[in-house]
Amino acid sequence: MDHFLYRDGALFAEDVSVSEIAAAVGTPFYCYSTATLERHFRLFDEALEPMPHLVCFAMKSNSNQAILKTLAALGAGMDVVSGGEYARAKAAGVPGDRIVFSGVGKTIEEMRVALEGGIRQFNVESEPEMEALNAIAVSMGGRAPIALRINPDVDARTHAKIATGKSENKFGIPIARAREVYARAAALPGLDVIGIDLHIGSQLTELEPFEQAYRKVADLTETLRADGHEIRRLDLGGGLGIPYTRSNDAPPLPSEYGEMIKRTVGHLGCEVEIEPGRLISGNAGIMVSAVIYVKHGEGRDFLILDGAMNDLIRPSMYDAHHDIVPVREPAAGAEQAPYDIVGPVCETGDTFARQRNMPELGAGDLVAFRSAGAYGAVMASEYNTRPLIPEVLVQGDQFAVIRPRPSFDEMIARDNIPEWLL
Ligand code: LLP
Repeated sequence: MDHFLYRDGALFAEDVSVSEIAAAVGTPFYCYSTATLERHFRLFDEALEPMPHLVCFAMKSNSNQAILKTLAALGAGMDVVSGGEYARAKAAGVPGDRIVFSGVGKTIEEMRVALEGGIRQFNVESEPEMEALNAIAVSMGGRAPIALRINPDVDARTHAKIATGKSENKFGIPIARAREVYARAAALPGLDVIGIDLHIGSQLTELEPFEQAYRKVADLTETLRADGHEIRRLDLGGGLGIPYTRSNDAPPLPSEYGEMIKRTVGHLGCEVEIEPGRLISGNAGIMVSAVIYVKHGEGRDFLILDGAMNDLIRPSMYDAHHDIVPVREPAAGAEQAPYDIVGPVCETGDTFARQRNMPELGAGDLVAFRSAGAYGAVMASEYNTRPLIPEVLVQGDQFAVIRPRPSFDEMIARDNIPEWLL
């Protein structure tokens, strides 16, 4: 459920008319709903009750400071994957003991900064990383809390580019080698081994792959405890999918996911962490764009929008489907016709949808891409020297620009001219 609904024939974000925002900030732009963000966070938080737990928002899905502050105020932790994300989490006021550091390629410098600034745990993905973290922690005279990310070799049954839990993927330590690597970790003076971590993929639409993986983690917990390790925390990753269309089968609910977690690992008495990104931010955002032209081609018609692949890359990168709806509600039973919906970028890949049925639209009309709050703004680029589009946050009847559109001058001023060209 989200808070982008039609009211009296016009699309609203909570209590604000989307076309009113468009008039104020120009198109294209991202627009987020506070109520949806909060609702989704709470669904997860409640789903894990009464287990001791922390929901760490995977901020790679949306790392705007205002979004992080909104979630942090509810008690969210953050899952970060770079020094930049760590800095963003800290800047939003998230305490170090609510920040989990994931990722296969943490640099020594990133580890140092996180150790200095405070960290809940590092999710360590390889033996060389483990040795490096130990060395830096020892050199700083401290100990780094770690969970080892285990690769359970489970098929997440999602898009190949976002599946992470098979043995051929670059992620984690093969489960078959876990005991050996835990033994080594326990022997290292700069590490404090506290738990197990895994993440098998993103946009999972069934519980079964999670369940398979979590059962393996439960068995591994008992084995490692028998080996003498104190496993007190399980980080079960993110990945629960969202409905991108209104028509297809809805993925399982956070409550069902929570029940499954209790069923599979609840008996172990561990503190549970999860790292959802998309389910918290995805349906909390839309991208609003205007029609520039309606072009009648040979055998097909095109809606040419002012938004493009550089603003929302998911359709061209993952063949992802986003529902695209007119901001002015079409009359009931209004005729629809198929369009290819495209942006202005000079690539055929700059196509959002092919042969999508849409009501009649004309130049200047607004459309909204649904489910664009996750992996939208954060994956945007300035390709074709198109400015990063603004982000707007709505709360009730108020809205604020939480990232402005840069001017062309600002964009150009970031380039430096070397001396020999002056
Ligand atoms: N934890 C780890 C270690 C991850 O790698 C990810 C996502 C998450 C949590 C959050 O997963 P989520 O709950 O959002 O599914 N750009 C792609 C998605 C990439 C996901 C990468 N890792 C897309 O637009 O679909």
